[in-house]
Amino acid sequence: MTIQREAFGTLDDGQPVDCYTLTNESGMEARIMTYGGTLLSLRVPDRDGHLADVVLGFDALAPYLGEHPYLGGIIGRYANRIAGGSFSLDGRIYQLTQNEGPNQLHGGELGFHRQLWRALPQKTRNADQLVLHYLSRDGEEGYPGDLHVEVIYTLTSRNELRVDYHAQTDRPTVINLTHHAYFNLGGGETILDHVLTLTAERYLPVDGLLIPTGELAPVADTPMDFRMPTTIGSRIHEQDAQLLRASGGYDHCWALDSNTGILAAELYDPGSGRRLHVYTTQPGVQFYSGNFFDGSVVGKGGRVYGKYAGLCLEPQHFPDSPNQPDFPTTVLGPHDFYQHSTIYAFDVA
Ligand code: GLA
Repeated sequence: MTIQREAFGTLDDGQPVDCYTLTNESGMEARIMTYGGTLLSLRVPDRDGHLADVVLGFDALAPYLGEHPYLGGIIGRYANRIAGGSFSLDGRIYQLTQNEGPNQLHGGELGFHRQLWRALPQKTRNADQLVLHYLSRDGEEGYPGDLHVEVIYTLTSRNELRVDYHAQTDRPTVINLTHHAYFNLGGGETILDHVLTLTAERYLPVDGLLIPTGELAPVADTPMDFRMPTTIGSRIHEQDAQLLRASGGYDHCWALDSNTGILAAELYDPGSGRRLHVYTTQPGVQFYSGNFFDGSVVGKGGRVYGKYAGLCLEPQHFPDSPNQPDFPTTVLGPHDFYQHSTIYAFDVA
């Protein structure tokens, strides 16, 4: 097990960005940079033992500083959408920055994926870790309270990448942290041949602006049913109102059957044999099938990312929870300790 640090460029204001490489004894490797706490690459073996990068991203810092769809970043203070970019808490209305029409998406213009994190590499008995810290100030993007955030990436000897999220606030606020890695386990043009399983009986239908309607609808007899392993492309082109709202694909939150750290999702690429199991303590998982890629993003090695080039499995609380009293609460008070974990476990089959 090793951790290595190297320079990865500088921000416009001159602050240096570092990249840390975590490697385990089977050669699995995760590279993380301090800007956005972004997972730059993740090399995992296929069924013949060949390592390849299974996440989308860029080769250098510069494109991460420009417009891009949250490739590999840590998302906060509130992942996903908040309707109207506002919510009320303890009788006060908070107006957030609006960066997707009237709504806020993924924490606003300068969400946590656009912040510089302080990094501390450390070793435990079985694993290498990168501990990242960020202090989100009271008022940032409209949110109340100074929020101290810690995100710990751990690469284990069992080919797992674990992400632990901790936070504390000095005033009541709302919080929803997630990770925005785009997976493509085989390196093909799209992820339509990947086989997905989601341990969810219900999902959250959305309106035309991708805000949940508030209903938890059964997946049975809909293209949202991934209770059994299902090829992603098999129903994605159906003339289904929910798929059409998300620009011809999936961009929805599934309500997990349990949030006790059990299996949330399984993703399998029959071509390479690579398989990913996602375990989480979160109540939901947003499955986004990369529908908005239109060829304008040119990623690693000059690869043009077209529609469905990669997919996100974002463990999180339900979108727009601050405005949906029936959803599990996302309020964090000054005496609370925010704690969530997600494990991305890789093997072959
Ligand atoms: C999220 C959202 C999608 C899209 C992507 C980035 O996962 O749910 O609607 O905005 O981020 O393109």
